[in-house]
Amino acid sequence: MADNPTWYDEGLGYIWLPYTQMKTATPPLPVKSTDGVRITLADGRELIDGISSWWAAAHGYNHPHILEAMKAQLETMPHVMFGGLVHEQALKLSARLADMLPGDLNRCFIAESGSVSVEVAMKMAAQYFMNRGEKRTKFVHFRGTYHGDTLGTMAVCDPEEGMHGLFKGMLAENLLTDLPRTPEDAERFAAFLKVNAPDVAAVITEPLVQGAGGMVFHTPETLQWIRQACNAAGVLMIVDEIFTGFYRTGTRFAIDQAGIVPDMVTLSKALSGGVAPLSVCVARDEVFDAFYDDDPMKALMHGPTYMAHALGCAAANASLDLFEQEDYAAKVALIENQLMAELAPCGFADNVKSVRVKGAIGVVQLKDASGIEALKPRFVEEGVWIRPFRNIVYLTPPLTIGKEDLSMLTAAICNVLGA
Ligand SMILES: Cc1ncc(COP(=O)(O)O)c(C=O)c1O
Repeated sequence: MADNPTWYDEGLGYIWLPYTQMKTATPPLPVKSTDGVRITLADGRELIDGISSWWAAAHGYNHPHILEAMKAQLETMPHVMFGGLVHEQALKLSARLADMLPGDLNRCFIAESGSVSVEVAMKMAAQYFMNRGEKRTKFVHFRGTYHGDTLGTMAVCDPEEGMHGLFKGMLAENLLTDLPRTPEDAERFAAFLKVNAPDVAAVITEPLVQGAGGMVFHTPETLQWIRQACNAAGVLMIVDEIFTGFYRTGTRFAIDQAGIVPDMVTLSKALSGGVAPLSVCVARDEVFDAFYDDDPMKALMHGPTYMAHALGCAAANASLDLFEQEDYAAKVALIENQLMAELAPCGFADNVKSVRVKGAIGVVQLKDASGIEALKPRFVEEGVWIRPFRNIVYLTPPLTIGKEDLSMLTAAICNVLGA
């Protein structure tokens, strides 16, 4: 394109894009800047963001409070190794998260990406049993779930999402089953877990919403049934709140709606307000206690170079300030009502199968997904950033979005789908 900046033309031939067939994909759009709920392209066009940069930018872009905290941290120390050293931002963040999370979820291992925090949770579960003299190497996971792109996390994704067929032989073989959605399912699941318990370190699930699996919802009872089955079978429970954490489903954490305390919780994305790569695996006291010993071999065997990144932790502390200072539950309740009202007309469009909303997640599911790629440029023409995938067109806007901007997003969906 004639209008592309020089850096785009000079660099594009050297980059490898995610989940992208580089030969056939439409070229990516060059971004100049972001602000609030807007992305400004190099040619000056502005797009209202309906995705929050993969569900992370909960406070919108360039929030002054987060930027100021990061600038202050940058002046003193962007990063320092976390082996044998600690720093204020990481300790502050850990204490705050322990205070926010229910029960005795008190020990924070701070990493960089969501996938790594899930790897850490899995490793913690396996080593928890090793330290108690048991070898348990399997995980129970559910159809429709997504937990990351690393080989360990792929092995607990839905086989389709994790492309198990393609990577057969490389991925650990775990135990795949359906989420319990009814009391009968719950009984079946409890029996299944009991039989397999001697091999199973943990059950892992996304709470209330299977995000990358197609924004499929389930009820808090499902989480309660899984917790009960884990208790009965003596298996740990990992809840992956990477997408759902920090009000996306209406409450601070999705587990708050179920009133359960998992053994480990993973957090990322909105944790840092979508500004810096940061994730945490938070474990209960009982899990930590299984590592607390005179034997050095019982220590947790993990430690990424950039763990507890000081700049990222400063961003996260500022993000938590915002979640504490403002009523995000009320913001999300307003978004939920508006999404329900304004996406409802889509239910009458020819190619629409269903419309569903939970918290600040609005989903329009299509009957025929064959034309889904062709919808993407049409949304850009409408002045919005919406990325349909699988068979859904969905919105996960910044939680700070105003009424008019949200209406622009819903109107674009209605227009493009012909509602
Ligand atoms: C539920 C869930 N778990 C894990 C991940 C992986 O996080 P990351 O992409 O930061 O590795 C994601 C990313 O979308 C996710 O939605």
